Amino acid sequence: MEASERIIILDFGSQYTQVIARRIREAKVYSDILPYTTPVEEIRAMNPKGLILSGGPASVYSKQAPIPDEGIFELDLPILGICYGMQLLGKFLGGKVERSAEREYGRGTLKVKGESALFKGLPKELEIWNSHGDKLIKLPKGFKSIATTENSPHAAIQKDKILGLQFHPEVAHTPRGSKILSNFVHRICGCKRTWTTESFIEQSIQEIRQQVGKEKVILGLSGGVDSSVAAALLHRAIGKQLVCIMVDNGLLRANEVASVKRIFANGLGLKLKVVDATDQFLGKLSRVSDPEKKRKIIGREFVKVFEEASHEIRNASFLGQGTLYPDVIESVPIDGNPAALIKSHHNVGGLPKRMKLKLVEPLRQLFKDEVRSVGEALGLPKEMVWRQPFPGPGLAVRCLGPMSVERLDILRAADAIVVEEMKLSGYYYQVWQSFAVFLPVKSVGVMGDERTYEYTIAVRIVESLDAMTADWARIPGDILAKISNRIINEVDGVNRVVLDISSKPPATIEWE
Ligand code: XMP
Repeated sequence: MEASERIIILDFGSQYTQVIARRIREAKVYSDILPYTTPVEEIRAMNPKGLILSGGPASVYSKQAPIPDEGIFELDLPILGICYGMQLLGKFLGGKVERSAEREYGRGTLKVKGESALFKGLPKELEIWNSHGDKLIKLPKGFKSIATTENSPHAAIQKDKILGLQFHPEVAHTPRGSKILSNFVHRICGCKRTWTTESFIEQSIQEIRQQVGKEKVILGLSGGVDSSVAAALLHRAIGKQLVCIMVDNGLLRANEVASVKRIFANGLGLKLKVVDATDQFLGKLSRVSDPEKKRKIIGREFVKVFEEASHEIRNASFLGQGTLYPDVIESVPIDGNPAALIKSHHNVGGLPKRMKLKLVEPLRQLFKDEVRSVGEALGLPKEMVWRQPFPGPGLAVRCLGPMSVERLDILRAADAIVVEEMKLSGYYYQVWQSFAVFLPVKSVGVMGDERTYEYTIAVRIVESLDAMTADWARIPGDILAKISNRIINEVDGVNRVVLDISSKPPATIEWE
């Protein structure tokens, strides 16, 4: 989508680069992340209103230091260097950076001097967050210091429209950091507040119509947030030209098919084709216990079923997908330790090229929180827009040991209780994920006068910001007691419920 005004963020490998982009967009200005290697001509061609140089793990003096095209300093654009970005200003514009033996890490107090537009509307003393090794010891030519901290006389520097910050305005530990970034994009770059949910929807509807014309689009609707919002947006743009296919692989949560039908087919009037492939999937998965084998089988069967179902939709030439911005950001490894390359998920395999479908990906520019706002604005219900992540291979990776229909049924029933109680208590929307795991472990119990020998359910409830790290959520005991009692009383075949109290790392969120 052609944003009318944009800020470009050059990525030098900071773990916070995406956070910078989100803060800028929260200020209602579109922002793009580009690798630091992007040639200046390419940057110029994108016609940005300003540049931000991100932080990064390297030292500007190290041999492998990521260095941008020097032409960026001649673009006559406002530039904000953050941390490593500011040290680049030091290195290239005639200052001096000192390598320090220790990182300065943690909270600090910023004292603002003078009247820079960057700090307009902010108090003269601000809490800020530092995380840097090197430090600017001599200002680059023509620059002045506009703020100091306990440890640094040059915590913020400026020469006209080129600014540098030693600290991180993008993180939550710098409570007024959003205002600093908003001042940069609005007051210094002169951007207007044009990046809004409504303007995005309006513009992408035009673009989808233009791209698709009179042709048909098929989209695999899983019931997850991304495919749901993509479906709703495409439907708003092209109505009946969109046909959604939902594959029931027998590994979905309780009532999943019914709720997708209710929201999309009945509610929105969208064309939805549900393929019941339960027997096909479960037949292939029967008695398989190796997690990677399960994932492979599920990926393969999905492609088969989806391809077959799409053949029945005549004249479809586009495939709709809920790809998000973090999946398309190009990342470059820095010091062999790129934040963005930590994990590429073992997802349900892509569709084969032989399907010869052109892609339409209306959410390619959005972060997850923006996708949720779009979903809400399109009228999707809260339980859809704010639902927790659910793995592509579904309940299969939560059913340990050899798979069987009986075990999946036990798991599905127990999981429905976890979700229901979490929703009733209000915790469902506060945690990252909450679900049940089937353990193929039988233990002894008593029920009335009888001894039982039945399976175990583990309850996994975690807090996380991005699934990279997670901690088990401290849920009040009475809620856990209710979950446990209900599972044992209502789910046949279970006589024991245990709570998973491991963090990630070293454990993972899912059990497989
Ligand atoms: P782990 O278990 O690796 O999970 O800590 C991190 C996040 O990824 C989800 N997950 C998956 N998602 N296909 C997916 O689409 C998968 O195979 C898969 N495995 C894990 C998990 O639910 C968590 O949100």
